[in-house]
Amino acid sequence: MDLNMRRIEKVQDKMRQAGFDYLILGPSSNMFYFSGLETTADERLQLVIVPASGQPAAVLPEMYQEKAAAVIGGRFPLLTWSDQQDPLELVKNTAPQRSARRIAVDDTLRAAHFLGIMEVFPGCAFEPASRVVDTLRVFKDDQELALMARSGDLADQVMEKVQAEIRPGLSEKELALFIEITFKQLSDDISFKPIVASGPHGASPHHSTGSRKFMQGDFIVVDCGGTVNGYCSDITRTFCLGKATGEMKKVYQAVLDANEKAFEAVDNGCTAEKADAAAREAITGAGYGPYFIHRTGHGIGLDVHEAPYLVEGNGAALLPGMVFSIEPGIYLPGNFGVRIEDVVAVTGNGARRLNSFNRDLVEL
Ligand code: CO
Ligand code: CO
Repeated sequence: MDLNMRRIEKVQDKMRQAGFDYLILGPSSNMFYFSGLETTADERLQLVIVPASGQPAAVLPEMYQEKAAAVIGGRFPLLTWSDQQDPLELVKNTAPQRSARRIAVDDTLRAAHFLGIMEVFPGCAFEPASRVVDTLRVFKDDQELALMARSGDLADQVMEKVQAEIRPGLSEKELALFIEITFKQLSDDISFKPIVASGPHGASPHHSTGSRKFMQGDFIVVDCGGTVNGYCSDITRTFCLGKATGEMKKVYQAVLDANEKAFEAVDNGCTAEKADAAAREAITGAGYGPYFIHRTGHGIGLDVHEAPYLVEGNGAALLPGMVFSIEPGIYLPGNFGVRIEDVVAVTGNGARRLNSFNRDLVEL
């Protein structure tokens, strides 16, 4: 049995344990994970419907027939609809268990499609698919870990080229474009729009990359990632253009310590919230606690943000097979920001960073 069908069997086990009748997937990383279908969400209904027992079925627009048939290869039925038809009729025929009581629906399914599905299953309780799917997806198998490691290596290579490219007068957008092109050359694609935040812009963790030009004395936060066979990388480094001031060095060191402390906590085996606390303690100890304004990390895989989240209140253990970011930061409004981010995998033998690019302060 192939990988996708094994995953479907596993999720069906989870569904039966949790009492779900159907799992309905839209165009998403979940659909790719369970069926191999690579899709983009739009106004046309595209679904993979997985019953608690028995065969799944795909419901797709006729225009995707050829491409989808090549991927599915007869492993389960492919039902297509033309633009003149109502695809919900196919859903009714495909999922005839109208007495279904609980259905898990893909978290990212468009509301317009979900509203239609609700009408097909009157009186049914709907819950986010993450409740059954995440317990599988958080544990990466050896093949997935190898792809994540490859993705991380390529991100390191991109960061090396980024470091060489930074110079006074280059704009944030120009560097972001360079990052996009380099990821497309070295890997498959970008995993998210690169964040390039220079000088005072660095104080906004998710700054919208703009036209500001780099100047001497800037800290430049570069946060970017690519994909390999769908598996994402995510790395952040903060470079100094010219000489760092005493305060810049102090802030940089606090973030570096926080990154290391969280890694050590994971290496020793800890819960998600303990890893967050380790990073937070290092930054609070340096006097910048109020300026670390986000969680310490997020799981990563087919999605750039997925479970598990390294955040206070998440008492779940970080176990072998889990992969997530460690990305503490300090953000001083009107002044500058620093973030240092690596992707880390938990193995049977402690933690392993999937990024090895230099973390020490670089003055360019
Ligand atoms: Co990032
Ligand atoms: Co991240």
